[in-house]
Amino acid sequence: MSDFIPVNEPLLNGNEKKYLCECIDTGWISSEGPFVKEFESKFSKTVNREFGISVTNGTAALEIAVRAIGITEGDEVIMPTFTIISCAEAVTRVGAVPVLVDSDPDTWNMCVDQIESKITPKTKAIMVVHIYGLPVDMDKVLDIAKRHNLKIVEDAAEMHGQTYNGRPCGSFGDISIFSFYPNKHITTGEGGMIVTNDEELVEKCRSLRNLCFQREVRYVHEELSGNYRFTNLQAAVGLAQLERLEEFVEKKRNMGRRYTELLKDVKGIKLPKEYEGDNQNIYWVYGIVLGDEIKCDNREFVKKLGEKGIGSRTFFWCMHEQPVYTERGLFKNEKYPVAEKLARKGLYIPSGLALTDEQIECVADVFKQLITEFV
Ligand SMILES: Cc1ncc(COP(=O)(O)O)c(C=O)c1O
Repeated sequence: MSDFIPVNEPLLNGNEKKYLCECIDTGWISSEGPFVKEFESKFSKTVNREFGISVTNGTAALEIAVRAIGITEGDEVIMPTFTIISCAEAVTRVGAVPVLVDSDPDTWNMCVDQIESKITPKTKAIMVVHIYGLPVDMDKVLDIAKRHNLKIVEDAAEMHGQTYNGRPCGSFGDISIFSFYPNKHITTGEGGMIVTNDEELVEKCRSLRNLCFQREVRYVHEELSGNYRFTNLQAAVGLAQLERLEEFVEKKRNMGRRYTELLKDVKGIKLPKEYEGDNQNIYWVYGIVLGDEIKCDNREFVKKLGEKGIGSRTFFWCMHEQPVYTERGLFKNEKYPVAEKLARKGLYIPSGLALTDEQIECVADVFKQLITEFV
């Protein structure tokens, strides 16, 4: 299987090795090392935020962000059903309730026009999740949040280098988060970042990241949390990656444009939009939705692509159809038809930064040939 094209392969051929060697040479490998603060400061600047709090991964970033802004038992948080489990889990872990909205069929982002109808006296926040490369329509969300006095938790895990009407994604939430998993535009292996301008939130996040140690009397606890500290080794990789953020965004945009060029005439599939308004897709992943005329679901298609040497993944599975939640009686009889279709018919093809032009052409050829078997 040496010719297998993986769904993702990161690019680590900048200063990663150099900075990692510095960690080894100096002995600074823990969260106390100097790269951590440097990375927090440089990363938060790229999204016009005053503070960055690095953590172990994007999921932890969401959990800490939700706790820090004071979402608690019985509160409701409005979010898309079509997202990763990390979003809903951050909310249910504090005893709050995710309240769902459907997706937009063209951008695959949360349907912002449904938000207002979901607001109740218990609603505390909107969790905005930018999905797969295009930003959520933030003007509408900001307006709703302001009028109803709601907090915004912004999940920009997939949005490195993306903007909404010229303003960086990650700068819209009362608190916003990123992930640095290797399929993101910049990676630290595992890793995440919380960003905000609110100093009080920063203190809470730093405490929640670090077992809620108290400043004065270190081993006496008034609150509990886990250990979500980010290491100097991760920060070393992150700093090297950050140096190339613009180049990486451009590379992904070229990848997206090339796939679209090669696949645009294929009947029965929906490709990602290049633009939504003035906002250009950054193609976190290159997603494709199979039409009703294609006689198979995404799971079968992903399996068949794999047999032909192409790595791919199905889209997210909706929150209201998660067995772990329905067994608890959540989301009973709720239906979100657009998201349900995305979850059954959507998949993404190899989209990593190390992908070559030849591989893109090969993926498109195999895709085109395979789809003829299902029409
Ligand atoms: C939208 C979104 N939020 C949160 C996460 C969680 O990030 P992590 O995998 O770093 O925990 C991801 C991961 O891909 C994601 O896509």
